[in-house]
Amino acid sequence: MRSVVLAMVLAFTVAVGVSFAGDAAKGEALFNGAGKCKVCHKTTEAKLVGPGLAGATKNNDDAFLKEWISDSQGTWAKGGPAIEAIQKRNNKVGKPKTAMAPGKLTPAEVDDVIAYLHTL
Ligand code: HEC
Repeated sequence: MRSVVLAMVLAFTVAVGVSFAGDAAKGEALFNGAGKCKVCHKTTEAKLVGPGLAGATKNNDDAFLKEWISDSQGTWAKGGPAIEAIQKRNNKVGKPKTAMAPGKLTPAEVDDVIAYLHTL
């Protein structure tokens, strides 16, 4: 009985801990390579073209990040509280378009990049 409870607790912990499907190592390679994120973003809090992305997963939840990284222009155009927060953080209130280039990553690659953002 005790081992069953232990197994259940363990399974639950793993399920919660790995609530995210992405692979951070692949995400890092995409961030620096095909995703072109590095062209505009540092992985610290320092600004480049866009804001430094340390803390990006605290400021934005994963579902929103997935939408944003997949289609920054479309997500910006749709608006909403998460977009308003980005506009305020980056002094872009009232701008019709984001300066973030549209992404060309597959949905699985976006998950990998988000997993990597969680390590920053
Ligand atoms: C051409 C430059 C450019 C590229 C390439 C780019 N971004 Fe951005 N990104 C920006 C800018 C600029 C902003 C801030 C919004 C604005 O000013 O329009 C931003 C905002 C963000 C934010 C929100 C930051 C916040 O304040 O919460 C995240 C997260 C993000 N980018 C991730 C990425 C990822 C991941 C990639 C690669 C797949 C990427 N960006 C590629 C320019 C870029």
